[in-house]
Amino acid sequence: MPSEPDPTVRALEAASAAAAQFLRGLPERPVGPLMGADELRARLGGPLPDGPGDPAEVVAQLAKLADDGLVASAGPRYFGFVVGGSLPAALAADWLASAWDQNAGLFALGPAAAMVEEVAAGWLTDLLGLPPTVTTGFVTGGQMATFAGLAAARHHVLAGAGWEVERDGLIGAPPVEVVVGAERHVTVDAALRLLGLGSGRLRVVPADGQGRMDAAALGEALAACRGPVIVCAQAGNVNTGAFDPLAAICDAAHAQRAWVHVDGAFGLWAAASPALRHLVAGIERADSVATDAHKWLNVPYDSGLVFVAHPEAHLAAFSTVAGYLTPGATGERDPDAYTPEFSRRARGFPVWAALRSLGRAGVAALVERCCGHARRFADALGTADGVEVLNEVVLNQVLVRFPDPGGDHDGRTREVIRRVQAGGTLWLSGTTWHGMAAMRISVSNWSTTEADVDRSVAAILAAAGGATR
Ligand SMILES: Cc1ncc(COP(=O)(O)O)c(C=O)c1O
Repeated sequence: MPSEPDPTVRALEAASAAAAQFLRGLPERPVGPLMGADELRARLGGPLPDGPGDPAEVVAQLAKLADDGLVASAGPRYFGFVVGGSLPAALAADWLASAWDQNAGLFALGPAAAMVEEVAAGWLTDLLGLPPTVTTGFVTGGQMATFAGLAAARHHVLAGAGWEVERDGLIGAPPVEVVVGAERHVTVDAALRLLGLGSGRLRVVPADGQGRMDAAALGEALAACRGPVIVCAQAGNVNTGAFDPLAAICDAAHAQRAWVHVDGAFGLWAAASPALRHLVAGIERADSVATDAHKWLNVPYDSGLVFVAHPEAHLAAFSTVAGYLTPGATGERDPDAYTPEFSRRARGFPVWAALRSLGRAGVAALVERCCGHARRFADALGTADGVEVLNEVVLNQVLVRFPDPGGDHDGRTREVIRRVQAGGTLWLSGTTWHGMAAMRISVSNWSTTEADVDRSVAAILAAAGGATR
């Protein structure tokens, strides 16, 4: 008699079937969710069953019950926030990471998980034009990457002032001055809060019309600083895609022995393209750099990266020692030494698979293709009646406004966004830019085609046609 298939294998087959069905339908399903919180709560909820359920059936049930609450954010016409999809090899490698269930904390817990990080980190630093000596941490996303970079910064600048922050904390420490651009991402403030540096005592450098830090004003801010200084710069503004002048920022900051952290959550990937690399000139001189793999590299959530140019500061911020731990020998990477987490998912596998499947040329082509699509959006919308493109489209971000003949430009812009979201052809979100409501288009998905852009432009213009007030 044939033996019953293993329950784990049957559950995985159920997941595979559901995933394949979802992915096949992804390009054509309505891009936004079809169900709200109350319906989802009712559908997914009810009392916890008293007894066990068949694993394969539970998985099939979950796929069915969750479906209407899913967003097609992995699909080709999702242009909201800054969201990448999942490359085929990265997605499948992520499944393996779950099946293998390696704890990427220590070499002893998962040698392959540890060493795949070392290899991928080497490829990344080369691809992104960073010095080969930087150390790399695999974190959950841009937020934690910036936290990690600033933790190393905090160590370094305070050590320079004779203070050991990991041992002595911040009480009584020399005050650290933090200089930021006016258009920084909100996660910089959150990281500073978590690190005890505060978000209410920053020196804020004004930005220009595109959101770039004013380098001359940075010089003035630095001149007013006393004691240890950290400067937070940005590669890729979340609204406009604009880049701070990194080379000038590094010149000015390093002249005062300040640490330069760069938030390059998505903009750092410009470095992978020979045509766009000029946008991040100077990045090789940054002291720490944060980026995401789950945005433009199109690795499944969650996946962020921090690069630190001062290994001793990186290790001082995160290394731990305990009698029961088995430290790696020379040449054996212990991943927990580079991240705030201790036990964690083996995020290196999907990153390695994404890079290996695209190769150097493939990453450049992905980035350039998305930027080309952004320009296509801007060209088509910018030449249409009653539509205005607000930003210089230097990367993958487009800001659009819909002037209203009656003068209610914000109201009309928000109404167009609402109609586009309800229409289901594409999904994008709104923002406030320089006090004005604007539509944000972010092109970050590997699978988006010119036909997707054209179809989306038509849907936006149709929504705008119906939204004249
Ligand atoms: C410029 C910038 N920095 C940081 C972040 C935060 O990244 P994450 O959501 O991966 O934490 C984002 C997210 O959009 C971003 O655009």
